[in-house]
Amino acid sequence: MTKPISIAPSILSADFMGLGADLDAVATADWVHYDVMDGHFVPNLSFGPGILKQVKARTALPVDAHLMVSNPDDVIDDYIKARADLVTFHLEAARDAAEMIGRIHASGRGAGIAISPDTPAEAVFPYLADIELILVMTVYPGFGGQSFIDAMLPKIAQVRAACDRIGADPWIQVDGGIGPDTVRRAADAGANLLVAGSGVYGARDRAARIAELKRIAEGA
Ligand code: DX5
Ligand code: ZN
Repeated sequence: MTKPISIAPSILSADFMGLGADLDAVATADWVHYDVMDGHFVPNLSFGPGILKQVKARTALPVDAHLMVSNPDDVIDDYIKARADLVTFHLEAARDAAEMIGRIHASGRGAGIAISPDTPAEAVFPYLADIELILVMTVYPGFGGQSFIDAMLPKIAQVRAACDRIGADPWIQVDGGIGPDTVRRAADAGANLLVAGSGVYGARDRAARIAELKRIAEGA
């Protein structure tokens, strides 16, 4: 693994009435994770490109947009325009994943593919050499604060092994139920970009929690 262990707080768990302050509170993280939910692909609604633009204006960190939407082919351009540094779509919802990867790359941004718990690792294998990030969901997408699904650990390891076989090194991101008790297992399985929503925002001292997650994940 060549990429460093990195922490991405999910602002889905932030206080939306104080989103600016809650962004400032995670300035020591490596990324900001931006969860887009459309009330259709998942049974919940969050925020769209308009608020992403404001988030990008506020934070100096790179932002990865996780699109939990039924029609990613139709909306990725909105998130590119809103200045997402990396755009991740769900493979289960994609009409033409290769075309979307091309379009995201043409804009100069990174492309990510997410897979839900019921989608096997093999589904992303055809894309491993062409994308900057694979997101292995460790909960069913839709809500923050759910429990980490341990049965996803072998899937993370399968994705890591498949990358190693072809000499690819995309970020391997995990999302859902990441906290001090689970982050080590995810990292040991091969993940290096660790999303934590309630795991960060549920802590009184967010900077301390980010440092703690990183230290535990690094096995220090
Ligand atoms: C879940 C979202 C996650 C969510 C994670 O559908 O994609 O990013 O914010 O929340 P926690 O870390 O609380 O499980
Ligand atoms: Zn997410």
